Amino acid sequence: MNFTEHTVLVVDDEKNTRDGLRLSLEDEFDVYVAANISEAEEVLKNESVDVMLTDLRLGGENGLDLITRTLARPKPPVCILMTAYGSVDVAVEAMKKGAYDYVGKPLNIDELEIVIKRAIRGRQVEEENVALKAQVTERYGLENIIGRSAAMQPIFETIRQVAPTRATVLIEGESGTGKELVGRAIHHLSGRPKSKLVTVHCAALSEQLLESELFGHERGAFTGALERRIGRFEEADGGTLFLDEIGEIDLNTQVKLLRAIGERTIERLGSNKPIKVDVRVVAATNKDLGEMVREGTFRDDLFFRLNVVSLLMPPLRQRKEDILLLVDAFLKEFTEENGKPLMELTSEAMQALFDYDWPGNVRELRTVIEHGVVMSNTQKIGMRHLPPFLKDDSLLSFREAGKRGGGSSAPAPAVDPFAGGDLNLARMEEKMIRLALERTGENRTEAARLLGISRRTMQRKLKEMGLVEG
Ligand SMILES: Nc1ncnc2c1ncn2[C@@H]1O[C@H](COP(=O)(O)OP(=O)(O)OP(=O)(O)O)[C@@H](O)[C@H]1O
Ligand SMILES: [Mg+2]
Repeated sequence: MNFTEHTVLVVDDEKNTRDGLRLSLEDEFDVYVAANISEAEEVLKNESVDVMLTDLRLGGENGLDLITRTLARPKPPVCILMTAYGSVDVAVEAMKKGAYDYVGKPLNIDELEIVIKRAIRGRQVEEENVALKAQVTERYGLENIIGRSAAMQPIFETIRQVAPTRATVLIEGESGTGKELVGRAIHHLSGRPKSKLVTVHCAALSEQLLESELFGHERGAFTGALERRIGRFEEADGGTLFLDEIGEIDLNTQVKLLRAIGERTIERLGSNKPIKVDVRVVAATNKDLGEMVREGTFRDDLFFRLNVVSLLMPPLRQRKEDILLLVDAFLKEFTEENGKPLMELTSEAMQALFDYDWPGNVRELRTVIEHGVVMSNTQKIGMRHLPPFLKDDSLLSFREAGKRGGGSSAPAPAVDPFAGGDLNLARMEEKMIRLALERTGENRTEAARLLGISRRTMQRKLKEMGLVEG
Protein backbone atom coordinates (compact mmCIF):
# COMPACT_ATOMS: atom_id res chain seq x y z
CA MET A 1 0.00 0.00 0.00
CA ASN A 2 1.29 3.44 -0.92
CA PHE A 3 0.48 5.99 1.75
CA THR A 4 1.78 9.19 0.13
CA GLU A 5 -1.72 10.03 -1.03
CA HIS A 6 -3.04 9.82 2.49
CA THR A 7 -3.37 12.98 4.46
CA VAL A 8 -2.25 13.30 8.05
CA LEU A 9 -3.03 16.34 10.17
CA VAL A 10 -0.75 16.97 13.15
CA VAL A 11 -2.16 19.23 15.88
CA ASP A 12 0.28 20.36 18.56
CA ASP A 13 0.82 23.69 20.25
CA GLU A 14 4.61 23.26 20.38
CA LYS A 15 6.32 24.37 17.24
CA ASN A 16 9.22 21.94 17.73
CA THR A 17 6.92 18.95 17.84
CA ARG A 18 4.98 20.13 14.77
CA ASP A 19 8.13 20.67 12.74
CA GLY A 20 9.70 17.44 13.92
CA LEU A 21 6.63 15.38 13.04
CA ARG A 22 6.24 17.06 9.68
CA LEU A 23 9.86 16.25 8.83
CA SER A 24 9.66 12.63 9.89
CA LEU A 25 6.26 11.87 8.35
CA GLU A 26 6.33 13.76 5.08
CA ASP A 27 8.23 11.08 3.19
CA GLU A 28 5.40 8.70 3.78
CA PHE A 29 2.28 10.87 4.02
CA ASP A 30 0.84 14.14 2.89
CA VAL A 31 1.26 16.16 6.11
CA TYR A 32 -0.58 19.26 7.43
CA VAL A 33 0.04 20.92 10.77
CA ALA A 34 -2.06 23.06 13.09
CA ALA A 35 -1.28 24.76 16.40
CA ASN A 36 -4.77 24.90 17.87
CA ILE A 37 -8.40 23.87 17.39
CA SER A 38 -9.39 26.62 14.99
CA GLU A 39 -6.37 26.03 12.76
CA ALA A 40 -7.13 22.33 12.79
CA GLU A 41 -10.74 22.92 11.85
CA GLU A 42 -9.63 25.16 9.01
CA VAL A 43 -7.60 22.26 7.57
CA LEU A 44 -10.43 19.76 8.14
CA LYS A 45 -12.78 22.07 6.31
CA ASN A 46 -10.58 22.35 3.24
CA GLU A 47 -8.80 19.01 3.00
CA SER A 48 -9.94 15.46 3.13
CA VAL A 49 -7.91 14.32 6.12
CA ASP A 50 -7.43 10.59 6.72
CA VAL A 51 -5.75 10.67 10.09
CA MET A 52 -5.68 13.39 12.72
CA LEU A 53 -2.96 13.21 15.32
CA THR A 54 -3.56 15.57 18.22
CA ASP A 55 -1.76 16.39 21.42
CA LEU A 56 -3.82 16.31 24.61
CA ARG A 57 -2.78 19.79 25.73
CA LEU A 58 -3.16 22.50 23.11
CA GLY A 59 -2.27 25.62 25.06
CA GLY A 60 -5.45 26.35 26.95
CA GLU A 61 -7.46 24.00 24.75
CA ASN A 62 -8.05 20.29 25.09
CA GLY A 63 -7.26 17.65 22.47
CA LEU A 64 -10.21 15.55 23.63
CA ASP A 65 -12.58 18.37 22.73
CA LEU A 66 -11.02 18.55 19.31
CA ILE A 67 -11.53 14.81 18.89
CA THR A 68 -15.18 14.98 19.94
CA ARG A 69 -15.87 17.87 17.57
CA THR A 70 -13.97 16.26 14.73
CA LEU A 71 -15.77 12.94 15.02
CA ALA A 72 -19.07 14.77 14.79
CA ARG A 73 -18.15 15.99 11.29
CA PRO A 74 -19.37 14.14 8.23
CA LYS A 75 -16.74 11.61 7.07
CA PRO A 76 -14.39 12.30 9.95
CA PRO A 77 -10.73 11.28 9.93
CA VAL A 78 -9.41 8.58 12.20
CA CYS A 79 -8.31 10.32 15.42
CA ILE A 80 -5.19 9.45 17.40
CA LEU A 81 -4.32 11.08 20.68
CA MET A 82 -0.75 11.90 21.71
CA THR A 83 -0.33 11.87 25.44
CA ALA A 84 2.40 11.60 28.03
CA TYR A 85 3.20 8.07 29.17
CA GLY A 86 1.32 7.11 32.25
CA SER A 87 -1.87 9.06 31.61
CA VAL A 88 -3.83 5.92 30.86
CA ASP A 89 -7.09 7.38 32.10
CA VAL A 90 -7.04 10.08 29.48
CA ALA A 91 -6.18 7.54 26.80
CA VAL A 92 -9.14 5.39 27.82
CA GLU A 93 -11.42 8.40 27.80
CA ALA A 94 -10.23 9.29 24.31
CA MET A 95 -10.99 5.77 23.09
CA LYS A 96 -14.44 5.99 24.65
CA LYS A 97 -15.02 9.20 22.75
CA GLY A 98 -14.23 7.33 19.57
CA ALA A 99 -10.49 7.87 19.14
CA TYR A 100 -8.89 5.05 17.19
CA ASP A 101 -5.73 4.78 19.26
CA TYR A 102 -3.26 6.73 21.35
CA VAL A 103 0.51 7.08 21.35
CA GLY A 104 2.69 7.94 24.30
CA LYS A 105 5.07 10.85 24.46
CA PRO A 106 8.01 11.05 23.95
CA LEU A 107 7.12 9.79 20.51
CA ASN A 108 8.77 6.88 18.84
CA ILE A 109 8.51 7.72 15.14
CA ASP A 110 8.60 4.13 13.89
CA GLU A 111 5.82 3.19 16.24
CA LEU A 112 3.84 6.23 15.25
CA GLU A 113 4.12 5.36 11.56
CA ILE A 114 2.84 1.88 12.23
CA VAL A 115 -0.14 3.21 14.16
CA ILE A 116 -0.99 5.67 11.39
CA LYS A 117 -0.75 3.05 8.67
CA ARG A 118 -2.86 0.63 10.63
CA ALA A 119 -5.46 3.34 11.13
CA ILE A 120 -5.59 4.07 7.40
CA ARG A 121 -5.91 0.41 6.50
CA GLY A 122 -8.55 -0.13 9.17
CA ARG A 123 -10.54 2.78 7.88
CA GLN A 124 -10.45 1.46 4.34
CA VAL A 125 -11.62 -1.98 5.38
CA GLU A 126 -14.37 -0.42 7.44
CA GLU A 127 -15.54 1.76 4.55
CA GLU A 128 -15.56 -1.21 2.24
CA ASN A 129 -17.53 -3.24 4.75
CA VAL A 130 -20.11 -0.55 5.26
CA ALA A 131 -20.51 -0.12 1.52
CA LEU A 132 -20.74 -3.84 0.98
CA LYS A 133 -23.26 -4.32 3.76
CA ALA A 134 -25.43 -1.47 2.55
CA GLN A 135 -25.39 -2.88 -0.95
CA VAL A 136 -26.23 -6.38 0.12
CA THR A 137 -29.03 -5.25 2.44
CA GLU A 138 -30.63 -3.18 -0.26
CA ARG A 139 -30.73 -6.08 -2.66
CA TYR A 140 -31.44 -9.07 -0.49
CA GLY A 141 -31.94 -8.19 3.13
CA LEU A 142 -29.78 -8.63 6.18
CA GLU A 143 -27.51 -11.55 7.03
CA ASN A 144 -29.40 -14.48 5.47
CA ILE A 145 -32.80 -12.91 5.85
CA ILE A 146 -34.11 -12.35 2.36
CA GLY A 147 -36.61 -9.62 1.68
CA ARG A 148 -36.82 -6.09 0.43
CA SER A 149 -40.55 -5.55 0.91
CA ALA A 150 -41.80 -2.64 2.96
CA ALA A 151 -43.07 -5.12 5.56
CA MET A 152 -39.51 -6.32 6.19
CA GLN A 153 -37.86 -2.92 6.55
CA PRO A 154 -38.86 -2.31 10.17
CA ILE A 155 -37.62 -5.82 10.97
CA PHE A 156 -34.17 -5.09 9.50
CA GLU A 157 -34.11 -1.71 11.18
CA THR A 158 -34.89 -3.15 14.61
CA ILE A 159 -32.37 -5.97 14.21
CA ARG A 160 -29.63 -3.47 13.40
CA GLN A 161 -30.62 -1.31 16.34
CA VAL A 162 -30.90 -3.95 19.03
CA ALA A 163 -28.27 -6.46 17.94
CA PRO A 164 -25.32 -4.67 19.56
CA THR A 165 -27.19 -4.13 22.84
CA ARG A 166 -27.92 -6.56 25.65
CA ALA A 167 -31.66 -6.00 25.41
CA THR A 168 -33.90 -9.04 25.59
CA VAL A 169 -35.76 -9.56 22.33
CA LEU A 170 -39.06 -11.33 21.75
CA ILE A 171 -39.70 -12.52 18.20
CA GLU A 172 -43.31 -13.30 17.40
CA GLY A 173 -44.81 -14.59 14.20
CA GLU A 174 -46.51 -17.50 12.48
CA SER A 175 -44.69 -20.72 11.86
CA GLY A 176 -42.06 -20.53 9.13
CA THR A 177 -41.77 -16.75 9.03
CA GLY A 178 -38.07 -16.78 9.91
CA LYS A 179 -38.01 -16.29 13.66
CA GLU A 180 -35.02 -18.52 14.22
CA LEU A 181 -33.21 -16.89 11.33
CA VAL A 182 -33.74 -13.51 12.95
CA GLY A 183 -32.51 -14.84 16.29
CA ARG A 184 -29.32 -15.96 14.63
CA ALA A 185 -28.90 -12.62 12.84
CA ILE A 186 -29.22 -10.75 16.13
CA HIS A 187 -26.52 -12.92 17.59
CA HIS A 188 -24.19 -12.52 14.61
CA LEU A 189 -24.58 -8.77 14.57
CA SER A 190 -24.13 -8.54 18.33
CA GLY A 191 -20.50 -7.52 17.98
CA ARG A 192 -19.47 -10.45 20.15
CA PRO A 193 -18.57 -12.72 17.26
CA LYS A 194 -16.58 -15.18 19.31
CA SER A 195 -19.34 -15.66 21.83
CA LYS A 196 -21.70 -18.59 21.61
CA LEU A 197 -25.26 -18.91 20.38
CA VAL A 198 -27.08 -21.62 22.30
CA THR A 199 -30.58 -22.72 21.30
CA VAL A 200 -33.17 -24.45 23.46
CA HIS A 201 -36.37 -25.79 21.92
CA CYS A 202 -38.67 -25.39 24.88
CA ALA A 203 -41.54 -27.41 23.41
CA ALA A 204 -39.52 -30.57 22.98
CA LEU A 205 -38.88 -31.20 26.67
CA SER A 206 -40.90 -32.18 29.71
CA GLU A 207 -40.99 -29.79 32.68
CA GLN A 208 -38.16 -31.39 34.60
CA LEU A 209 -35.99 -31.98 31.57
CA LEU A 210 -36.43 -28.41 30.43
CA GLU A 211 -35.37 -27.11 33.82
CA SER A 212 -32.28 -29.23 33.86
CA GLU A 213 -31.58 -28.33 30.24
CA LEU A 214 -31.73 -24.61 31.08
CA PHE A 215 -30.09 -24.56 34.49
CA GLY A 216 -28.16 -27.80 34.71
CA HIS A 217 -28.16 -30.19 37.64
CA GLU A 218 -25.93 -31.67 40.28
CA ARG A 219 -25.36 -35.35 40.50
CA GLY A 220 -28.31 -37.03 42.19
CA ALA A 221 -30.62 -34.01 41.84
CA PHE A 222 -33.32 -36.36 40.57
CA THR A 223 -33.66 -39.97 39.54
CA GLY A 224 -31.47 -40.47 36.54
CA ALA A 225 -29.20 -37.50 37.25
CA LEU A 226 -26.07 -39.61 37.34
CA GLU A 227 -23.62 -36.87 36.53
CA ARG A 228 -23.39 -33.17 37.15
CA ARG A 229 -24.54 -31.33 34.06
CA ILE A 230 -23.95 -27.74 32.95
CA GLY A 231 -27.14 -26.01 31.81
CA ARG A 232 -27.63 -23.97 28.67
CA PHE A 233 -27.51 -20.69 30.59
CA GLU A 234 -24.00 -21.46 31.76
CA GLU A 235 -23.04 -22.69 28.35
CA ALA A 236 -24.21 -19.45 26.76
CA ASP A 237 -22.34 -17.29 29.30
CA GLY A 238 -21.01 -14.24 27.49
CA GLY A 239 -23.18 -14.99 24.48
CA THR A 240 -26.78 -15.43 23.37
CA LEU A 241 -29.42 -17.89 24.54
CA PHE A 242 -32.17 -18.46 21.97
CA LEU A 243 -35.32 -19.79 23.63
CA ASP A 244 -37.49 -21.18 20.88
CA GLU A 245 -41.22 -21.72 21.47
CA ILE A 246 -41.10 -19.89 24.74
CA GLY A 247 -44.91 -20.05 24.91
CA GLU A 248 -44.61 -23.75 25.72
CA ILE A 249 -42.82 -23.51 29.01
CA ASP A 250 -44.73 -24.30 32.18
CA LEU A 251 -45.42 -21.79 34.94
CA ASN A 252 -42.85 -23.24 37.37
CA THR A 253 -40.03 -22.94 34.90
CA GLN A 254 -41.24 -19.46 34.01
CA VAL A 255 -40.53 -18.35 37.58
CA LYS A 256 -36.96 -19.62 37.39
CA LEU A 257 -36.45 -18.13 33.99
CA LEU A 258 -37.63 -14.76 35.23
CA ARG A 259 -35.06 -14.87 38.01
CA ALA A 260 -32.28 -15.96 35.66
CA ILE A 261 -32.96 -13.08 33.30
CA GLY A 262 -33.70 -10.46 35.93
CA GLU A 263 -30.96 -11.22 38.41
CA ARG A 264 -28.53 -12.81 35.98
CA THR A 265 -28.17 -15.66 38.41
CA ILE A 266 -29.03 -19.32 38.15
CA GLU A 267 -28.90 -22.33 40.40
CA ARG A 268 -28.34 -25.84 39.15
CA LEU A 269 -31.06 -28.32 40.12
CA GLY A 270 -30.10 -29.95 43.40
CA SER A 271 -27.91 -27.04 44.45
CA ASN A 272 -28.59 -23.69 46.06
CA LYS A 273 -25.34 -22.10 45.11
CA PRO A 274 -26.12 -19.10 42.91
CA ILE A 275 -24.04 -18.85 39.75
CA LYS A 276 -23.63 -15.56 37.89
CA VAL A 277 -24.33 -15.68 34.20
CA ASP A 278 -24.02 -12.96 31.58
CA VAL A 279 -26.43 -14.06 28.90
CA ARG A 280 -28.39 -12.18 26.29
CA VAL A 281 -31.80 -13.79 25.85
CA VAL A 282 -33.68 -13.89 22.56
CA ALA A 283 -37.03 -15.69 22.66
CA ALA A 284 -39.37 -16.75 19.89
CA THR A 285 -42.96 -17.91 19.76
CA ASN A 286 -45.78 -18.48 17.31
CA LYS A 287 -48.30 -18.03 20.11
CA ASP A 288 -49.88 -14.77 21.16
CA LEU A 289 -48.11 -14.30 24.52
CA GLY A 290 -50.22 -11.27 25.36
CA GLU A 291 -53.29 -13.46 25.03
CA MET A 292 -51.66 -16.17 27.16
CA VAL A 293 -50.99 -13.57 29.85
CA ARG A 294 -54.67 -12.66 29.84
CA GLU A 295 -55.58 -16.34 30.09
CA GLY A 296 -53.14 -16.81 32.97
CA THR A 297 -50.96 -19.39 31.22
CA PHE A 298 -47.99 -17.06 30.86
CA ARG A 299 -46.62 -14.88 33.65
CA ASP A 300 -47.01 -11.19 32.97
CA ASP A 301 -43.73 -10.28 34.70
CA LEU A 302 -41.81 -12.69 32.47
CA PHE A 303 -43.66 -11.40 29.44
CA PHE A 304 -42.56 -7.85 30.22
CA ARG A 305 -38.99 -8.98 30.83
CA LEU A 306 -38.82 -10.71 27.49
CA ASN A 307 -40.71 -8.07 25.61
CA VAL A 308 -38.15 -5.28 26.06
CA VAL A 309 -37.87 -5.21 22.29
CA SER A 310 -40.34 -7.14 20.19
CA LEU A 311 -40.38 -8.10 16.57
CA LEU A 312 -43.49 -9.29 14.77
CA MET A 313 -42.52 -11.25 11.68
CA PRO A 314 -44.90 -10.56 8.79
CA PRO A 315 -46.50 -13.62 7.20
CA LEU A 316 -45.45 -14.30 3.61
CA ARG A 317 -48.92 -13.52 2.24
CA GLN A 318 -48.39 -9.94 3.41
CA ARG A 319 -45.14 -9.56 1.55
CA LYS A 320 -45.70 -11.40 -1.69
CA GLU A 321 -43.33 -9.08 -3.50
CA ASP A 322 -40.52 -10.98 -1.76
CA ILE A 323 -41.55 -14.28 -3.32
CA LEU A 324 -39.42 -13.68 -6.40
CA LEU A 325 -36.24 -13.07 -4.41
CA LEU A 326 -36.93 -16.02 -2.16
CA VAL A 327 -37.60 -18.31 -5.11
CA ASP A 328 -34.32 -17.23 -6.73
CA ALA A 329 -32.42 -17.98 -3.56
CA PHE A 330 -34.08 -21.37 -3.02
CA LEU A 331 -33.62 -22.37 -6.67
CA LYS A 332 -29.94 -21.65 -6.31
CA GLU A 333 -29.72 -23.51 -3.03
CA PHE A 334 -31.50 -26.67 -4.18
CA THR A 335 -30.06 -26.93 -7.68
CA GLU A 336 -26.60 -26.71 -6.13
CA GLU A 337 -27.50 -29.24 -3.49
CA ASN A 338 -28.83 -31.65 -6.11
CA GLY A 339 -25.98 -31.04 -8.56
CA LYS A 340 -28.34 -29.66 -11.22
CA PRO A 341 -27.85 -26.62 -13.45
CA LEU A 342 -29.74 -23.53 -12.32
CA MET A 343 -33.46 -23.87 -13.06
CA GLU A 344 -36.34 -21.47 -13.48
CA LEU A 345 -40.11 -21.56 -13.07
CA THR A 346 -42.57 -21.31 -15.94
CA SER A 347 -44.68 -18.19 -15.74
CA GLU A 348 -47.71 -20.33 -14.95
CA ALA A 349 -45.91 -21.93 -12.00
CA MET A 350 -44.73 -18.53 -10.81
CA GLN A 351 -48.29 -17.24 -10.99
CA ALA A 352 -49.48 -20.14 -8.87
CA LEU A 353 -46.94 -19.18 -6.21
CA PHE A 354 -48.25 -15.64 -6.18
CA ASP A 355 -51.86 -16.81 -5.96
CA TYR A 356 -51.29 -19.11 -3.04
CA ASP A 357 -51.81 -18.05 0.55
CA TRP A 358 -48.74 -19.67 2.16
CA PRO A 359 -50.07 -20.71 5.57
CA GLY A 360 -46.65 -22.29 6.23
CA ASN A 361 -44.89 -19.10 5.12
CA VAL A 362 -41.29 -19.09 3.92
CA ARG A 363 -40.64 -22.60 5.13
CA GLU A 364 -43.50 -23.87 2.95
CA LEU A 365 -42.24 -21.93 -0.08
CA ARG A 366 -38.80 -23.39 0.45
CA THR A 367 -40.20 -26.92 0.52
CA VAL A 368 -42.26 -26.28 -2.62
CA ILE A 369 -39.18 -25.11 -4.51
CA GLU A 370 -37.19 -28.10 -3.33
CA HIS A 371 -40.02 -30.32 -4.54
CA GLY A 372 -39.94 -28.62 -7.93
CA VAL A 373 -36.18 -28.92 -8.31
CA VAL A 374 -36.25 -32.61 -7.46
CA MET A 375 -39.25 -33.42 -9.66
CA SER A 376 -38.18 -31.67 -12.84
CA ASN A 377 -35.73 -33.22 -15.25
CA THR A 378 -35.44 -30.20 -17.46
CA GLN A 379 -34.29 -26.70 -16.81
CA LYS A 380 -37.88 -25.55 -16.29
CA ILE A 381 -40.12 -26.13 -13.32
CA GLY A 382 -43.76 -26.18 -14.36
CA MET A 383 -47.08 -26.74 -12.65
CA ARG A 384 -46.75 -30.50 -12.92
CA HIS A 385 -43.56 -30.41 -10.84
CA LEU A 386 -45.19 -28.56 -7.98
CA PRO A 387 -47.16 -30.16 -5.14
CA PRO A 388 -50.85 -30.74 -5.97
CA PHE A 389 -52.24 -28.19 -3.52
CA LEU A 390 -50.84 -25.43 -5.71
CA LYS A 391 -52.59 -26.72 -8.78
CA ASP A 392 -55.51 -24.89 -10.14
CA ASP A 393 -57.17 -28.06 -11.31
CA SER A 394 -60.47 -28.89 -9.74
CA LEU A 395 -60.78 -32.40 -11.10
CA LEU A 396 -57.49 -33.37 -9.60
CA SER A 397 -58.35 -31.86 -6.25
CA PHE A 398 -61.69 -33.62 -6.53
CA ARG A 399 -59.90 -36.74 -5.43
CA GLU A 400 -57.97 -34.84 -2.80
CA ALA A 401 -61.20 -33.45 -1.43
CA GLY A 402 -62.62 -36.95 -1.21
CA LYS A 403 -59.61 -38.08 0.77
CA ARG A 404 -59.30 -35.10 3.05
CA GLY A 405 -62.88 -34.27 3.67
CA GLY A 406 -63.75 -36.93 6.26
CA GLY A 407 -65.03 -36.28 9.73
CA SER A 408 -68.17 -34.37 8.87
CA SER A 409 -71.73 -35.57 8.61
CA ALA A 410 -72.10 -34.16 5.09
CA PRO A 411 -72.35 -36.78 2.38
CA ALA A 412 -69.08 -37.94 0.84
CA PRO A 413 -68.52 -36.72 -2.71
CA ALA A 414 -69.38 -39.12 -5.51
CA VAL A 415 -66.49 -41.49 -5.95
CA ASP A 416 -67.07 -41.86 -9.65
CA PRO A 417 -67.60 -38.47 -11.25
CA PHE A 418 -68.93 -40.06 -14.42
CA ALA A 419 -71.47 -42.25 -12.63
CA GLY A 420 -74.45 -39.97 -13.07
CA GLY A 421 -73.67 -39.35 -16.74
CA ASP A 422 -72.95 -35.79 -15.77
CA LEU A 423 -69.94 -35.17 -18.01
CA ASN A 424 -70.04 -31.42 -18.02
CA LEU A 425 -66.81 -30.27 -16.35
CA ALA A 426 -68.12 -26.86 -15.44
CA ARG A 427 -71.18 -28.31 -13.73
CA MET A 428 -68.99 -30.83 -11.96
CA GLU A 429 -66.79 -28.04 -10.71
CA GLU A 430 -69.73 -26.06 -9.48
CA LYS A 431 -71.01 -29.07 -7.56
CA MET A 432 -67.63 -29.54 -5.94
CA ILE A 433 -67.42 -25.94 -4.93
CA ARG A 434 -70.90 -25.95 -3.42
CA LEU A 435 -70.08 -29.15 -1.59
CA ALA A 436 -66.85 -27.71 -0.25
CA LEU A 437 -68.63 -24.58 0.94
CA GLU A 438 -71.29 -26.64 2.59
CA ARG A 439 -68.73 -28.73 4.40
CA THR A 440 -66.74 -25.80 5.67
CA GLY A 441 -69.73 -23.82 6.83
CA GLU A 442 -69.30 -21.36 3.94
CA ASN A 443 -65.70 -20.63 4.92
CA ARG A 444 -64.19 -19.73 1.54
CA THR A 445 -60.58 -20.02 2.60
CA GLU A 446 -61.15 -23.45 4.05
CA ALA A 447 -63.25 -24.50 1.08
CA ALA A 448 -60.50 -23.40 -1.30
CA ARG A 449 -57.98 -25.43 0.66
CA LEU A 450 -60.25 -28.44 0.59
CA LEU A 451 -60.46 -28.08 -3.17
CA GLY A 452 -56.74 -27.54 -3.50
CA ILE A 453 -57.13 -24.18 -5.20
CA SER A 454 -56.00 -20.73 -4.17
CA ARG A 455 -58.33 -18.29 -2.50
CA ARG A 456 -58.04 -16.01 -5.45
CA THR A 457 -59.07 -18.77 -7.84
CA MET A 458 -61.92 -19.61 -5.51
CA GLN A 459 -63.04 -16.02 -5.58
CA ARG A 460 -62.89 -15.96 -9.39
CA LYS A 461 -64.89 -19.15 -9.72
CA LEU A 462 -67.51 -17.92 -7.27
CA LYS A 463 -67.87 -14.81 -9.38
CA GLU A 464 -68.20 -16.89 -12.54
CA MET A 465 -70.88 -18.94 -10.86
CA GLY A 466 -72.63 -15.78 -9.81
CA LEU A 467 -72.31 -16.72 -6.13
CA VAL A 468 -70.62 -13.47 -5.21
CA GLU A 469 -71.04 -10.05 -6.70
CA GLY A 470 -68.05 -8.24 -8.20
N1 LIG B 1 -36.70 -14.07 5.08
C1 LIG B 1 -36.18 -15.28 4.82
N2 LIG B 1 -35.21 -15.42 3.92
C2 LIG B 1 -34.68 -16.64 3.67
N3 LIG B 1 -35.07 -17.76 4.25
C3 LIG B 1 -36.03 -17.69 5.16
C4 LIG B 1 -36.64 -16.45 5.51
N4 LIG B 1 -37.57 -16.68 6.45
C5 LIG B 1 -37.53 -18.00 6.69
N5 LIG B 1 -36.62 -18.61 5.92
C6 LIG B 1 -36.34 -20.05 5.87
O1 LIG B 1 -37.55 -20.73 6.16
C7 LIG B 1 -37.33 -21.77 7.09
C8 LIG B 1 -38.10 -21.52 8.36
O2 LIG B 1 -37.53 -20.43 9.05
P1 LIG B 1 -37.41 -20.40 10.63
O3 LIG B 1 -37.05 -21.75 11.15
O4 LIG B 1 -36.55 -19.27 11.02
O5 LIG B 1 -38.94 -20.10 10.96
P2 LIG B 1 -39.66 -19.99 12.36
O6 LIG B 1 -40.41 -18.71 12.33
O7 LIG B 1 -38.69 -20.18 13.46
O8 LIG B 1 -40.71 -21.18 12.28
P3 LIG B 1 -41.37 -22.06 13.50
O9 LIG B 1 -42.29 -21.15 14.24
O10 LIG B 1 -42.11 -23.12 12.77
O11 LIG B 1 -40.25 -22.57 14.31
C9 LIG B 1 -35.84 -21.86 7.28
O12 LIG B 1 -35.32 -22.78 6.36
C10 LIG B 1 -35.37 -20.48 6.96
O13 LIG B 1 -34.05 -20.49 6.49
MG1 LIG C 1 -38.53 -21.77 14.78
